[in-house]
Parts: sequence; C-alpha cells; structure tokens
Amino acid sequence: MKIDIVSVFPEYFDVLNLSLLGKAQEHGLLSIDTHDLRDWTHDVHHSVDDTPIGGGAGMVMKPEVWSECLDSLLGVTYDASDARDVNDAKHAPSLADIESADDAEYALSAIDPAPGTTIIFPNPSAPLFTQDDAQELSQQKRLIFGCGRYEGYDARIPAYYSAQGYDFREYSIGDYVLNGGEVAVSAMVEAITRLLPGFMGNPDSIVEESYTGKQALLEYRQYTRPAQWRGRDVPDILRSGDHAKVDRFRRDEALVRTANIRPDLIEQLRVEDLDKVDRKL
Ligand code: ADE
Repeated sequence: MKIDIVSVFPEYFDVLNLSLLGKAQEHGLLSIDTHDLRDWTHDVHHSVDDTPIGGGAGMVMKPEVWSECLDSLLGVTYDASDARDVNDAKHAPSLADIESADDAEYALSAIDPAPGTTIIFPNPSAPLFTQDDAQELSQQKRLIFGCGRYEGYDARIPAYYSAQGYDFREYSIGDYVLNGGEVAVSAMVEAITRLLPGFMGNPDSIVEESYTGKQALLEYRQYTRPAQWRGRDVPDILRSGDHAKVDRFRRDEALVRTANIRPDLIEQLRVEDLDKVDRKL
C-alpha cells in the first residue's frame, strides 16, 4: 500500500516511522510519503488559507492550493475545457438513463479515474470513521490523506474530486473538535495499516479484538502474571485450563461490558449472531 499525507505540518508525521509502522515500511509492506501543502503555493507568504466568504471567524483553506497538490499526486493536469459546468447542478446520469452520446460520455467520465485509490480528508462534521471503514480501506492500493487546518477547507474540493469520479471521503474520528486533521489522519493510518496482511507479528491478535467482525463487541478484560497482585486475584476460570469455560467466560464478559459501556453496539447485534447461552444473558 502507498500512502501520501499532505499537511502544513508534515514533520508531525515523523512518528509514523517508529514502531510497527516503521518496521512495515522497512519490510516494504507499505510506503508513507509526507508532503508540505505549502509546496503548492506561489505567493511569497506561501498562504494556504483565506477569510470565509459570507463572514465569520477563522480562515478557510483555499481550493486552488489543494487542487494543485491533489492533481500532482494523482498525476493529472486540469484542463479548463474539460470542466463540467457543475453550477447547473446537473449530475452525471446513471447508466440506466443514458439517452445520448453526450450522456454516455458524461457517465463514463464519472467512472473512478484512479481505481484502488481513495482520497481522505478528516473533518469533524463528517460521518464517523469505524473499524469497517478501516477494514475496507486496508484493501486499497493507495490512500491520499489531506489534513485541514483552521476552520476547514473550501467545500468545492470534495465536491470537485467526487464529481470527477474519484473515491473522495471525509471522516470524523469522534464527536470532539481537534485543531486540525493531523491527529485524525494518524489515527486512521494506524487503524488501517495494522490490518494489512503481514503487518502484525501474530495475525490472531486482530481477529478477536473490539469492533471486529459481524459481532462487534468490546473486548473482554485481560490479565497476566502474577495471579495475585495487591490483594486482587485473576479470575479462577482463566487459570482453570478449561478452554471451553475460558471462552464462555470471556464472551459473557464481552457481552456484559458492551451492554454497560456501549449499548448502541448491542442494539446492532443480530439475533442470529448470538449463541444459545448469549440469549439467556
Ligand atoms: N478535525 C478536527 N476535528 C476532527 C475530528 N474530530 N475528526 C476528524 N477531523 C477533525
């Protein structure tokens, strides 16, 4: 997998060279290139933002700087004569309602021009990034992350690239506001890349963890030696050596913890995903 990250603070991502992510890069499992958005500015101040049209506090990132950057990473050149007049709010017709050669050309041009590539901009006002998204994105060949700062970025950026047929996504990593997209991109990169085959020394460690699979439950609690510590004992069943009992104990604990901490996840469980013992709980 190839990952590009664009930010006005590219050095922020030096940490991605550490630990398992660093090793995965050394082993050629993935490559991460960081870019300074200011490299695509042309003015003496290297400005990437401007005041919001319509008034209000803060600054908004300019569309021209981002488009020069994204076009160069995508290896495309903008041709003004190709530009669709999107101001007429006409959308590419679906294959079902193609009536003319023009429609056909328009629909075809909406087909993803960079298959296997996804552009991702973190945004606190976007859908939540979940383990399912991480799983899906871990199958992609290339991810391009753009980090917004200030009050955000011009809304025409996602609109334009989506209309060009690119897989352009915006995600929030939680219901709180950060100063910029850098922390969110780090979190997404880590969640996605650890799912790459060969990334984890022991692939089983990603099979049983929270939010994974059809039955997304919080994980049961873990213990290690010593069996007694500061007056607290590890539950007897875990030391019994009876694997069936250990599995049951852990599953019950996962269900109860999830019901207490994240009842929304319990509501999403399908009855057919529960076993007979679960149903009695
Ligand atoms: N940028 C600022 N806050 C964010 C959040 N919660 N998620 C994603 N991007 C952000």
